[in-house]
Amino acid sequence: DAADINKGAYPYYMLKEIDEQPAVIHRIQSAYLNKNEVQLNSNLMDKLTNASRIYIVGAGTSYHAGLVGKHLFEKIAQIPTEVVVSSEFAYDDPLIEQDAFFIFLSQSGETADSRQVLVRVNDEWKKPSLTITNVANSTLAREAEFSVTLEAGPEIAVASTKAYTAQIALEAIIATAIGRTKNFEMAQNLDIDLELSKVANAMQAVVDEKGRIEQVAVDNLSDTRNAFYIGRGLDYFVALEASLKLKEISYIQAEGFASGELKHGTIALIEKGTPVLGIITQPQTADNTRSNLQETKARGANVITIVSESLAQTEDTLIIPDVNPDFAPLVSVVVGQLMAYYATLQRGYNVDQPRNLAKSVTVE
Ligand code: G6P
Repeated sequence: DAADINKGAYPYYMLKEIDEQPAVIHRIQSAYLNKNEVQLNSNLMDKLTNASRIYIVGAGTSYHAGLVGKHLFEKIAQIPTEVVVSSEFAYDDPLIEQDAFFIFLSQSGETADSRQVLVRVNDEWKKPSLTITNVANSTLAREAEFSVTLEAGPEIAVASTKAYTAQIALEAIIATAIGRTKNFEMAQNLDIDLELSKVANAMQAVVDEKGRIEQVAVDNLSDTRNAFYIGRGLDYFVALEASLKLKEISYIQAEGFASGELKHGTIALIEKGTPVLGIITQPQTADNTRSNLQETKARGANVITIVSESLAQTEDTLIIPDVNPDFAPLVSVVVGQLMAYYATLQRGYNVDQPRNLAKSVTVE
């Protein structure tokens, strides 16, 4: 409604949409959970549970939400999952197995690249599909067999924020539902409602600390030409999204990198003062990422760390509250969103209307 698309006291929609994320998580909980029980269409659940492979299709930020989804579907639902960039997959020659299921992630539900894949899913491969979108009657919602809505409210800023976190929350809920139907212990023991409440609280703590993030952005990103985000596993996927946010609106040439891969070539780009932002929320790779950060520091990098509380050390830059590590992207990405926002303000660009970009891209 009108209130939703008014930015009120906010200078930019992007900041309003970042701040709304805890409330969006709560709306998703109300819409899809009854206490800890998942409420989804039973035909949809049957088809998902019988899938031998899930394909997640998306573009841009939605593709990045799909990368996190792959981890969740494989770990919680135990279904092999591939994530594909829609503009590539639309013209590839993939081997589609009999019991494949396609999940489309699209904030707008109108992205032509993703629709082109859905046309093949329907006409050529004849497989079941689900669109997860913010726009209930959009093209992708209408043309897929099933659709669910993100409950994120209108997203106006070109740089997507709350749609990304909403997509991941829904992927977590759907993966949990599948895992429980299959009697997987992990899914049965997972109190998804409680975990998402913890995530919403942690997100709130991050947005409440935005002054500190602004200071880090101003101190480190005001006049740099380039920057790197690095991490491993889920932290790497957030590094990709956080760097996309930075390039989209601040025009800093930012790259997200798997931290261990850096030394196999890209570390050649590190110079004195190059900002390297390390994301550390995954206990099993925290030490590895720290030593990769050390390698960049030895070559002059300006290291900035974003670390979960239980993994934090005294020299860390930004500490974020602990949540279940499988859901940590929902919290760490908020730091990346705010970092991009404040770097852009500082550099004097229009946060909501970056050059060359459109909110919804309806050409291939
Ligand atoms: C455009 C937007 C991106 C978005 C992508 C996919 O390029 O600028 O922010 O991530 O499309 O959009 P969708 O609506 O399909 O999620």
